[in-house]
Parts: sequence; C-alpha cells; structure tokens
Amino acid sequence: MITSSPFGTYDGKEVIQYTLKNSQGTEIQILNFGGIIKTILVPDKNGKMEDICLGYDDMKGYETNPFYLGTLCGRFANRIANASFIIDGKTYELDKNDGQNSLHGGKGGFHKKVWTPEIDGDVLKLTYVSPDGEDKFPGELKVTLCYQLTDDNELVMQYSATTSAKTVINLTNHAYFNLAGQGAENIFDHDVTIKADQYTPQDSTYIPTGAIESVEGTPFDLRTAKNIGQMIPRVPGNVGYAHNYCFGTTGDKKFMARVEHPASGRYLEVYSTEPGLVFYTSYYLNETGKGGAKYQKYGAFCLEAAHYPDSPNKPNFPSTLLDPSETYQQTTSYKFGVM
Ligand code: GLA
Repeated sequence: MITSSPFGTYDGKEVIQYTLKNSQGTEIQILNFGGIIKTILVPDKNGKMEDICLGYDDMKGYETNPFYLGTLCGRFANRIANASFIIDGKTYELDKNDGQNSLHGGKGGFHKKVWTPEIDGDVLKLTYVSPDGEDKFPGELKVTLCYQLTDDNELVMQYSATTSAKTVINLTNHAYFNLAGQGAENIFDHDVTIKADQYTPQDSTYIPTGAIESVEGTPFDLRTAKNIGQMIPRVPGNVGYAHNYCFGTTGDKKFMARVEHPASGRYLEVYSTEPGLVFYTSYYLNETGKGGAKYQKYGAFCLEAAHYPDSPNKPNFPSTLLDPSETYQQTTSYKFGVM
C-alpha cells in the first residue's frame, strides 16, 4: 500500500512524501525529491519498531544534505578523477566538487532534483529528464526509478535510462543505516559479510588505482562475517571502509552483502545486478538529523551498489558508457529481516 502527504517545495515544485507499507508492518518513506529514502521502520526480534535509516525531518535538511543521506546519486555516482573524461576523442570537464574530482554527479546532481512521481499499485515510479549538458554531461538522459516494497520485506529499486547522445551513467542509492536505530552512536556492534573475492585499491582521494586485487589476507576480506568495530582499525588510512568490491559483470541479480546487528536481531541484505558495491563506514559523517539525533563518524554504514568509481577513465573496469541504441538497467534491493 502506498499513501502520500505533502512534504514541502523546492524550486517552486511540490515535494511529496510517499509511505510504502507491507503486510509485515514494515514502513518506508520516500521523497520525490532526490529519490530520497527518508525512513525505514522495521521490527527487532521482540517486534519493537525502529527507524534504521538516517535522514532529516524536513526539506530544510535535504536542501543542503552534504552527506547525501538517503539519496539517489547520478548522473555519475561516486568519483570521476580530475572531473574529466573522454568520449570518442572529446573531453568533458565536470564540476570539481570533491577536491580535484567530481563526486555523485557534481554540484547539481540527481539528489537535488524534483522527480515526477506516479503510483502504479504498490510501485512508486519516479521519472526525471536531465537536459543535454546538465551538470556538463552529454546527452539528454531520461531516467526512471521504481520503488517497490514486497511482503518479503525487500525494497526493490529498479532503474532504467536512455540517452539522446553517447554518455556515461552510474546510479546508486546512498542510504545510511544503523540497525540499532538511526540515532544510535556507532556501528561497532554490527557484523558485515561481503561476498566479493576482489576489490579496487585506491589512492587517498578515493580514486581507484586501476588494479583489481584479491581480498585474501587483507582487512577487505569480509567473505565470512566480521565484526565492524574490530575491523575498522585494521583498514589502512585510518578512515575505515570506503572501498569498492568487485562482483564480475554477469548482470544477474545476486547476493552481495549482509549486515547484522545481534543485539536487536535485525539484518539487512543487498542484492544487485551491478558489478560493484562500495562499503562506506561513514568516517566523515557529522550532522544533526531526525529528532535531533547526532550523526557522527562511524555512526552508520552505506552499501552503494553501482559500477566502479572512476570507470570512465579506467578501460579495464566494466563500462559505464551508454549509447543511444541501449537502455541502462539496474535492479538493486535492500532486504530487511530479524534473526
Ligand atoms: C562518498 C561516497 C562514499 C565514500 C565517501 C568518502 O560519500 O559515496 O562511498 O567514498 O564519499 O568521503
């Protein structure tokens, strides 16, 4: 079931909050602003409901939202080195909004757009037409994102896009989770499993070196469940995880990751057709959120299914090029449950 209520305005356009509910009592709130997942209310092992998704109470928070809480990211999720790439010999220069690099589509970005909403049964469909040259990317890009909450407690996100000219595209969702509740202090008592044999090593600005390496014998080996609090200090660089894991290029929806919170019994699983998954343990987080909650370093985790960072400049990575003859497609889901 989907219900809606007014949430505010942006750029003179109406922002609506949609509430998706299923037979399990799970309740998810989504905005047509930035495709933002605002609230995820799920039970613990005793049936106690808690909001496990970080966010803001009102539009004022989402207008700035420097940490991309809950947002859809595009046209190009994650980083493009030197904010520049080449298609067919032509160089495109983007906004440098993360040091020398471009992050999550630049200054504009899909997280700051009002999307056209449509409800079709239990599916919330958001559409956005990004004009040719918007945020300095080539081609008019028509993007659709469908959200559906199943009775199995799976939030399915189905993306598709077409372009009028050759371009690059990489979409993801940037929700921050804390399975103890959105205001809980940290995620040190959570356990993580990421079913990837390889990851992409990166420099200090989070740009992949281009190598694809085995996780074997490194702190990136999360193929069996590991405690996040014990692992964070072992990650080189002292900023926790902000790393891309590799899953190959099959395009089939596959299990990628699971995070468990033994104290509450809650868990979250991620499935995706994408070849990559960024695991980010929110080193930079520093914000006041819903109900005055203090969000801070290691206060939450993100699992961002997408193509690898800086793919447009890394010919050996799965391609993020989109030709007018093709349709971009991605299905990613967050599955919630109790142990
Ligand atoms: C962005 C990315 C994360 C991580 C951080 C690091 O939020 O989405 O995956 O790289 O930047 O600052």
